[in-house]
Amino acid sequence: ACTSTGGGGEAAGEGELDLISPGTLTVCSDIPYAPFEYVENGETVGFDIDLVDRIAEDLGVEPNVITTSFEAIETGSALDTDQCDLAASGMTINEERESVMDFSQPYVEDNLGLLVAPGSGISGVADIEGRRVGVQQATTGEEFAQQNGADVVQYEDSSLMIQGLNTGDVQAVVANISVAGPAIDDNPELELVEEIETGEELGLAVKTGNTALLDRVNESLAAMEEDGTLEELKAEWLGS
Ligand code: ARG
Repeated sequence: ACTSTGGGGEAAGEGELDLISPGTLTVCSDIPYAPFEYVENGETVGFDIDLVDRIAEDLGVEPNVITTSFEAIETGSALDTDQCDLAASGMTINEERESVMDFSQPYVEDNLGLLVAPGSGISGVADIEGRRVGVQQATTGEEFAQQNGADVVQYEDSSLMIQGLNTGDVQAVVANISVAGPAIDDNPELELVEEIETGEELGLAVKTGNTALLDRVNESLAAMEEDGTLEELKAEWLGS
């Protein structure tokens, strides 16, 4: 009879991770959010995707990224209801979210940007009061636009938000600067009129109390920092 109590050929330590689908790191991500997570030629790619691939590799499991609304991610509900083990969604670490999930060490810094359509007459944040400003719902951009008195129009995802700007549904959008850049590349008529120095830090997140997984995620991030992977990914995807 087999008397082994070990992991039976699994990667070391995987057992104690208690993944929702054994052998797989199931990851929630709100897609599209280029350059962090988006579909190109039928394939899901981006900064977060590369990051998650490497973490899964370090854990000795396969990654599986599932598209989830950003609202379900940032309220903690996707993690709490065991839809995924890890959230990787260009998500800003803040106090409110820290109360409903546990964040990794930060892996990217970001600011907000104010992006406008031609002829909007908006040249800075001071001009957005009372104007129709598009945001992706439940994001830090929404919070900022709200606080600055804009007539906020919520979009379910960030590509619909840019579309809203292109069709004239809104005159401006507030979004992270790292996504505003690529949006301008694709829509050269749009203009970034102000960078808002929020100093946001993006983090990965696990369900509150899942320290076994969080520790391994942080180890993997630290290893990527050490061996230059993080820097390479920033250069490749964020041009920074
Ligand atoms: N960093 C912003 C936030 O945390 C926006 C993130 C949106 N991410 C996404 N995958 N749609 O609120």
